[in-house]
Amino acid sequence: MENGRANMKPVTGISQVTCTAPVNIAVIKYWGKRDEQLVLPINPSLSVTLSQDQLCARTTVAASADFKRDRIWLNGEEQPVDAPRLQKCLGEIRRLARKRKHENRERAGDLLGSCIHVCSENNFPTAAGLASSAAGYACLVHSLAKLFHIDGDVSHIARQGSGSACRSMYGGFVEWTMGRLEDGSDSVARQVAPAEHWPELRVLVAVVNAGKKAVGSTEGMQTTVKTSALVKYRAEHVVPSRQEDMRQAILDRDFQTFGEITMKDSNQFHATCLDTYPPIFYLNETSKHIIHLVHMYNRHHGKIKAAYTFDAGPNAVLYLLQDDVPEVLALLRHFFPPGSTNNSDREFVQGLPDVNRKDLPADLQNTVGLEPSPGSIQYIIHTRAGQGPQVLTDPQQALLDENGWPKKQN
Ligand code: DP6
Repeated sequence: MENGRANMKPVTGISQVTCTAPVNIAVIKYWGKRDEQLVLPINPSLSVTLSQDQLCARTTVAASADFKRDRIWLNGEEQPVDAPRLQKCLGEIRRLARKRKHENRERAGDLLGSCIHVCSENNFPTAAGLASSAAGYACLVHSLAKLFHIDGDVSHIARQGSGSACRSMYGGFVEWTMGRLEDGSDSVARQVAPAEHWPELRVLVAVVNAGKKAVGSTEGMQTTVKTSALVKYRAEHVVPSRQEDMRQAILDRDFQTFGEITMKDSNQFHATCLDTYPPIFYLNETSKHIIHLVHMYNRHHGKIKAAYTFDAGPNAVLYLLQDDVPEVLALLRHFFPPGSTNNSDREFVQGLPDVNRKDLPADLQNTVGLEPSPGSIQYIIHTRAGQGPQVLTDPQQALLDENGWPKKQN
């Protein structure tokens, strides 16, 4: 009875939209807010949107005058609808829809009196710590905007769900401008280049076996802003020129510069975490071994062939070019082979086909000079840059049924 389905009559006049949205991985990191309420950053950032073939969130939203209250289900579990960030996104979308109605431009007005049901899931384990909130909020906001017939950029609304979510509103290479206005209306995401701009770029996400969950980004960056002098220096004196150099490296498809800035920026972000008081540690021993491996690999070739970046957890994301994928996978397989605890049902390397598999050259193996550490990487996702949020039109792919209730629930 509690779920409100009992003795239910078919719902009439229901509007429903289903969308998918991507994960993004920053190459210039966002870390620190100047306004907690509006989620305004202390520095601009830039990311690569990953293909939704491997990683995405899927969300169905429905509105009906028959719904009694707003409700949300995430990965099969009903969640409290009063979570502040969710309320923020719902409120902002409704406000925008109301504004459009007054301007007499949109059809959204009909839905404004209705309650909403939201059902969302990720096609990857949330526990893997892969920017699931960015994909999730981008998907929610894109779906709601479509439901209310709101056209144009709504990245400033996704930003209020989770800062990094605003970058998942576009495909390819995306920057989030810091903005100067007090109301945050100029702190938005925009595309630097589409995914097709750099077709050879590849991404390997190494899901590292982690111990206990580290401190979350929201809380972590609050403490950093309060206590770190380095993060202030970074925002004022390092990121502005880095952001420009990174944008240019992408436009020029200059992997040397792209790779160098990516690694330096990840390292500086983690340095600000260490400069936080008390310090925050996101990298574990495996992360550090991967950093070492990448530097030895690049030194072996006398140029940057792979670049690592780490977010608020130990998982490594490697950027590299297509031709170097077989060699880097051979390195990872050799030094971080699957262990007895790895799930044997799951392929160690997933995603794009693992073609031209090669053995690790002996000289390269010697240069790296690590002891193999079985089981420290759970699995690797091989992917590439991809598109922004998409609308799915096939009702089979909706997560809510024709009456607006979850098709499956735990
Ligand atoms: C390390 O976007 O998760 O991934 O705005 O508080 O929700 P909130 O934080 P969030 O922070 C992401 C931080 C990061 C770097 C990045 O993606 O730029």
